[in-house]
Amino acid sequence: MLTDELRNTLIQTAIEARKWAYAPYSNYAVGAALLTTSGRVYDGVNVENAAYPTGMCAERVAMYKAVSEGEQRFSAIAVVTSNGGTPCGACRQALSEFGLDVQVLIADEQGRLVQETSLRELLPGAFGPEDLPRK
Ligand code: THU
Repeated sequence: MLTDELRNTLIQTAIEARKWAYAPYSNYAVGAALLTTSGRVYDGVNVENAAYPTGMCAERVAMYKAVSEGEQRFSAIAVVTSNGGTPCGACRQALSEFGLDVQVLIADEQGRLVQETSLRELLPGAFGPEDLPRK
């Protein structure tokens, strides 16, 4: 379980990061802050593209930043949007690669916690590495 202090830190970090969102097409800015089990926090924003499908969600940007720096164990992620929208299916799947025990804080731009859940709850029946035959 997260302390209130960590909860606030993650939400505030996601709010701060969100100003860097590049979302000229949807006008829907998303900020994320991902906490690793080692205690580091990686932020991310959505980065859209004129070739629409090339854009990337904030949660995956945060996760890819973390993985590219050697972090693969996550304990929580905060996601901030104008209206407290939830992580999309692709982000749920991407995050699940390294485990489903990730707390998910969904907040609005005022920092109000709209929903607190877990990746396990958000992605029932997840397909994961253990579903592939081992070589
Ligand atoms: N978006 C995210 O960054 N995360 C989500 O989980 C949902 C959607 C972004 C993608 C796109 O830039 C914009 O929000 C509208 O879909």
